[in-house]
Amino acid sequence: MPLQETILERRTMRDYGSEPLDDATIRDLIRAARQGPGTAPPHRWACTVIRDAAALARISREAKAHMLASLRTSPHSAHYQSLLGDPAFDIFYRAPVLLVISATTRSPWNVEDCTIAAENLMLAASEAGLGACWIGFAQGFIGTAEGKAALGVPADWVPVAPIIVGRADNAALPLQRKPPELCWIG
Ligand SMILES: Cc1cc2nc3c(=O)[nH]c(=O)nc-3n(C[C@H](O)[C@H](O)[C@H](O)COP(=O)(O)O)c2cc1C
Repeated sequence: MPLQETILERRTMRDYGSEPLDDATIRDLIRAARQGPGTAPPHRWACTVIRDAAALARISREAKAHMLASLRTSPHSAHYQSLLGDPAFDIFYRAPVLLVISATTRSPWNVEDCTIAAENLMLAASEAGLGACWIGFAQGFIGTAEGKAALGVPADWVPVAPIIVGRADNAALPLQRKPPELCWIG
């Protein structure tokens, strides 16, 4: 599929079948992530692949508890409190795999490097007919010492981008976005 079509048709997916993703498919996605631009020396990130359903369920539970505790101080939290307080809500939507892109060194561009990799990965997933979703709900917990231990990553890594991937049960329609505000100089 031409790149422009993949970009225009990509949508976040939250409805996954139970079919697992094989190693080769996951490696292809990570290879696409690796092709993104990065600050020098490039590619100071690593990808953790979690397919174990019990580990995913445990991280979901702990991430919800972590977020609920931090939301208590936020005035806009009613919706999130009811969602995250629901024991049946799985922040990973029962996807078969979670890929976490973590910066492996301290750098002012950790977020940029890992986010570019994540976008390449999500586009590659879309192009391969897979669904993907960035799970911001996981970010608070996986940045803690307990979260890094749950991922099995060293304490000095910085987990940035938690992305679930799987075979989507329903195809979402392409979204028409409002045109961006443009400012031309020259
Ligand atoms: C940084 C970031 C965090 C996100 N966190 C979540 C999340 O925790 N749960 C979720 O269902 N979607 C999450 N999303 C997906 C957005 O909700 C989604 O991209 C947005 O609604 C636009 O829809 P589209 O990707 O289909 O165009 C996140 C997206 C980004 C970029």
